[in-house]
Amino acid sequence: MRDSLPYVLILYYSRHGATRSMAEQLAAGVESCPGIEARLRTVPPVSPTCEAVDPEIPEEGAIYAELDDLRHCAGLALGSPTRFGNMAAPLKHFIDSTSALWLNGALVDKPATAFTSTSSLHGGQETTLISMLLPLLHHGMVYAGLSYRETDLMTTTSGGTPYGASHLAGQRSDQPLSDVERRLVRAQGKRLARLTLALARLEEEA
Ligand SMILES: Cc1cc2nc3c(=O)[nH]c(=O)nc-3n(C[C@H](O)[C@H](O)[C@H](O)COP(=O)(O)O)c2cc1C
Repeated sequence: MRDSLPYVLILYYSRHGATRSMAEQLAAGVESCPGIEARLRTVPPVSPTCEAVDPEIPEEGAIYAELDDLRHCAGLALGSPTRFGNMAAPLKHFIDSTSALWLNGALVDKPATAFTSTSSLHGGQETTLISMLLPLLHHGMVYAGLSYRETDLMTTTSGGTPYGASHLAGQRSDQPLSDVERRLVRAQGKRLARLTLALARLEEEA
């Protein structure tokens, strides 16, 4: 018998804060659903020089993720700014440390999604989302993006894709989320929360 609520892990990297503000909105979407919590975690930057050591606790924002945060989540949202159309190295570095979870099938049949921020409109939102989808599939997770029931997807002139929420942060990465982007990333959080509860129920019945 579980003595705490199931949680969706929102695991993101953000250098300038745009992806972090998406993560916070996605968390609000998750928590709009009764019976489930959002757990925000980030990853430290990586450095080309292996001597670099980061403080154990970041100066601001979410604390660093541990493998157990991932092992025990009921659902997962991965967030990353685009880096040349791909997820950022710090997030990839963390994902590359998850072999033990893969071997145990710890994430199999759990729902997952992804979100991203870019500086330019056609700078790789979809490809970055797909780059995060790949390891999720290897872990046996069930990927859910956004559905076109979200009519904002048809009309957005900034972020928002069926592959997951996205944000157009501008060249200086200083543009706040537009109303449409905020609605979409919250809807994604709510959708993930509902799917997480449904799949967790199925798992308990099995
Ligand atoms: C090395 C590097 C590569 C980047 N590549 C792209 C890119 O391919 N397309 C794009 O639109 N933005 C690119 N950007 C910009 C960031 O993805 C964008 O500013 C993002 O909003 C930053 O998110 P953050 O505020 O969460 O750090 C790149 C930035 C860096 C540092």
